[in-house]
Amino acid sequence: MSITALARDEIRALSPYKAAEQVDDTIRLNANEAPFRNPAEEFQRPLNRYPEIRPVRLRRRLADRYGVLESQLLVSRGSSEAIDMLMRVFCRAGRDNVVTMSPTFSMYRHYATIQGAECRAVPADADAGFAVDAAALLAGCDDATRLVFLCSPNNPTGTLVGRDTLVDVLTARRDRSVVVVDEAYVEFSESSSAIDLLDEFDNLIVLRTLSKALALAGARCGAVIGHAEAIAMLDAVQAPYALATPVVEMVDLALTDAHWAEAARQVALVRTERDRVQAALANLPFVTRTWPSDANFVLIEVDDVDRVLAKTRADGILVRHFADDLADCLRISIGAPAENDRLLRCLGQTGDA
Ligand SMILES: Cc1ncc(COP(=O)(O)O)c(C=O)c1O
Repeated sequence: MSITALARDEIRALSPYKAAEQVDDTIRLNANEAPFRNPAEEFQRPLNRYPEIRPVRLRRRLADRYGVLESQLLVSRGSSEAIDMLMRVFCRAGRDNVVTMSPTFSMYRHYATIQGAECRAVPADADAGFAVDAAALLAGCDDATRLVFLCSPNNPTGTLVGRDTLVDVLTARRDRSVVVVDEAYVEFSESSSAIDLLDEFDNLIVLRTLSKALALAGARCGAVIGHAEAIAMLDAVQAPYALATPVVEMVDLALTDAHWAEAARQVALVRTERDRVQAALANLPFVTRTWPSDANFVLIEVDDVDRVLAKTRADGILVRHFADDLADCLRISIGAPAENDRLLRCLGQTGDA
């Protein structure tokens, strides 16, 4: 069975939207566009014209960066849009379910709920470092499980999904579920991407984003990577002209060698800072636990969350509390060195608060 068979019948039958043809050096009277440029813009491609239906050069550049074929990649408006599209392609409302771990990124549940699909969260044990247990995850799946979401490194724990675990899940769910590996933070890890497993598993989809390591959260750009037939179905569901011209031109530039290398230097700095911040936090008397992180944040457990939150807020520093899932924990993103210094100074005084 192929990944196509796992998609909803309506999606399999869906034809891609037929947009107005775009040919360079022609008089374009086929798309109801304004004939004049807006005086406020100076992009290479004028904004009175629709963007490309799909950004061809950007897709080629991203495919090169991630080492896949162009047909295996769809440029998305961040991973958020990709998660939403996956729910819509594979989950029938009121019938299918999505399995993931807990705690994890809340958007999997959010978009499953919007689609009318049940979201089952299999708890990961804090004492085991929040490691994903393949057997427990698979026990949560049944015949109606169309999507399994694995976030690696996981938000908000920073934990990697082990390669063996991933292979076990992909193997057990072959022909039955699409296994989505969300690699939003993988650049901050020593671990390699799951992309190299694509040759072996046609039920694998990998999500990448430029929001974290590439420092482009405001651009809303990411990539869905998978087998060409899965990408074609997602392409049919994505809005025409989804990526705006200013975004495409800006991100194209960010993918050139010089900018890519600079982003890699910044990732290295964040990793160094993460180790420094983590070590300093672990030494604070009110920090009862920390977990190793492969991402650009650390998760800590404290003895009095409200007191720490009040202190950081009073000092103008925002950290994240997930009251429902991790009541005693805080997720702290790694900032610039001076911001991290301020955080550590603030928390160093928390005992006196
Ligand atoms: C695990 C994970 N996946 C996806 C996203 C969404 O990222 P994007 O900005 O690409 O939509 C986030 C954002 O925080 C995230 O933590």
